[in-house]
Amino acid sequence: MSIKQKIDISKLPEHVAIIMDGNGRWAKGKGKFRIFGHQNGVSAVKEATEACAEIGVKYLTLYAFSTENWSRPPIEVKALMELLVSTIKKETKVLMKNNIKLAAIGNIDDLPEKCRKELASAINETKDNTRMTLILALSYSSKWDMIEATKKIAEKAKSGEIKIEDINDKTIDEHLSTKNFPNPELMIRTSGEHRISNFLLWELAYSELYFTEKLWPDFNQEDLFLAIIDYQKRERRFGKTSEQITN
Ligand code: FPP
Repeated sequence: MSIKQKIDISKLPEHVAIIMDGNGRWAKGKGKFRIFGHQNGVSAVKEATEACAEIGVKYLTLYAFSTENWSRPPIEVKALMELLVSTIKKETKVLMKNNIKLAAIGNIDDLPEKCRKELASAINETKDNTRMTLILALSYSSKWDMIEATKKIAEKAKSGEIKIEDINDKTIDEHLSTKNFPNPELMIRTSGEHRISNFLLWELAYSELYFTEKLWPDFNQEDLFLAIIDYQKRERRFGKTSEQITN
């Protein structure tokens, strides 16, 4: 029985989110520059996307560039932006062929113009695709998203559009950049780090977290399937007791 065959298709997570970590260490281990790790990370992006689409996951969010990543050496930031532009350009036809819709979350206005244009064009071209949505978190941090949401809600409260006493979970959900997507049931982080790193802090409230030692460029379809199998063994209680869940 292959690893893929061990997946229970009736218990798939609808949304998987991934912190792709370890590109720099992977490159260093091979005596290469960090960007070599990012370049090789692109094949892992393709592996994860194909694996999710193949089994029927509906949303895949990838943490591709965080707000904090802007403080990396300018040469690395520039190379990452160029890699993003070239990958989007090259892979849009693959997304079309596989009926995958591209979306983005984060402070997109901060990205270089070339990157914004390429992204907007790929998002527009793939907008009617229905098999899966691939969401790139770019210049994204959860605290940034929450601050933006708070500002929008405060503006509406000021103008009387929202009553302060009516603000609840749903109000926050509806003002985050993730408003069009369900919360991830499974969050994967590679490279042996056990942190959330300002990623989807609100949305991961009840997600199952899966950590693997694998460095991102080495992460392949089987690793994705193993994470899903592990997720399927967990009992999701949402604060209730085990008995309440089983009955
Ligand atoms: C983290 O590894 C990785 C990133 C900050 C960038 C991820 C980018 C890619 C995989 C390539 C482009 C992506 C797309 C969607 C086209 P790190 O550099 O923090 O590694 P380290 O912790 O070993 O230093």
